[in-house]
Amino acid sequence: MSQLSVRHLLGIKHINKADIDLIFKTADHFKEVINRSIKKVPSLRDITIANLFFENSTRTRLSFELAEKRLSADVVNFSASQSSVKKGETLIDTANNILSMKVDIIVMRHPDVGACDFLSQHVNAQIVNAGDGTHEHPTQALLDSFSIREKLGSVEGKKIVIVGDVLHSRVALSNIYALKLQGAEVKVCGPKTLIPKYIESLGVSVEYNIKKALEWCDVANVLRVQNERMEINYFPSTREYSQLFGINKQLLDSLGKKILIMHPGPINRGVELTSDVADADQSIILNQVENGVAIRMAVIYLLAQQTEQN
Ligand code: CP
Repeated sequence: MSQLSVRHLLGIKHINKADIDLIFKTADHFKEVINRSIKKVPSLRDITIANLFFENSTRTRLSFELAEKRLSADVVNFSASQSSVKKGETLIDTANNILSMKVDIIVMRHPDVGACDFLSQHVNAQIVNAGDGTHEHPTQALLDSFSIREKLGSVEGKKIVIVGDVLHSRVALSNIYALKLQGAEVKVCGPKTLIPKYIESLGVSVEYNIKKALEWCDVANVLRVQNERMEINYFPSTREYSQLFGINKQLLDSLGKKILIMHPGPINRGVELTSDVADADQSIILNQVENGVAIRMAVIYLLAQQTEQN
C-alpha cells in the first residue's frame, strides 16, 4: 500500500494499522533525510500549507512548520491571538479567507473538540488535526509510537502505562487508539478523578498505584497535569499529586529494571516528573521531539500525494 486510507488526518480513530505502517516507513526515510547535511527535499514545491493555531503550542507548531519547510512547501502561519478572530470572525470565515489564497492543506490546533472534523466538512482543503481540545492529537501519538518502535524494535506486545491527567488529555486518547491498533498492552494510572469512567471500554486496564504500574510496564508515557482545563479541584494539592503519582529517581531506581520514560511536553518539572527523571538516560523525551519532525513530514507528504491525484 502506498496511499493513506483517509483524505484528512483528523484522529487515530479514523486510520488503520496499514496507515500507521505506511507513515512509519515514510518517516524512516525522512528521518534519514533530516540527518543529512542538506536536510531539505523538493517533494512539495507546489503545495501551500496554512498552520492555524487557535491554542498555544511550542513543539507541535514548530515541528509542523519545520516539517513543511523541509519538504519545500510554501508555509503560512496563523495564530489566533494576532488575528481577526479577536474581532469576532468565525472559524469557517477565517478558513475560507485563507483558502481563497490557494491553500492546499490546513494544519489546525483548536480548543474545541471536533473543530478539525467540522472544518473538514466545510472547506475544500485537507485537514491535519494538531490537537482539538481534550479529544485527539494524532501526530503526537504517531511520534510516540514511532519512538517506542525505534527504541524497543516494535510496539506489538509491549506494555505501556499512560500516567496522570488522562481525563483532559488528547495525547492519552490518541495514544490508546494507536497503541491498541499496533497490539500493545495499555494501562492507565492516575488519580481516580482524572481517569474517565469509560476508559476500560477502550481495552485499557486501570492501576491506581504508581509503583505497581511502573513495575508492570516497559514504557511510561507521563502526561502533563492540565491545570488550564480544570474548572474544579481534581486532587487536594500539587504536592499530594507529586507524592502519589509523580515519578522521581528513587522510585525509578527501585524497579529493578530500566523502563523508558516519555512525556509529550511541556513538562511541569517537579510535578509529574522530577528533573533527574526528565533528564535521565532512560528518558526519550527529546527523541520524541526529534521524531516529531520526521512523522509530520511523512503525514504531510502522504496527504499531499492524494491532493496531486485528486
Ligand atoms: N506535545 C505538544 O502538543 O506540545 P505543544 O503544546 O507545545 O505543541
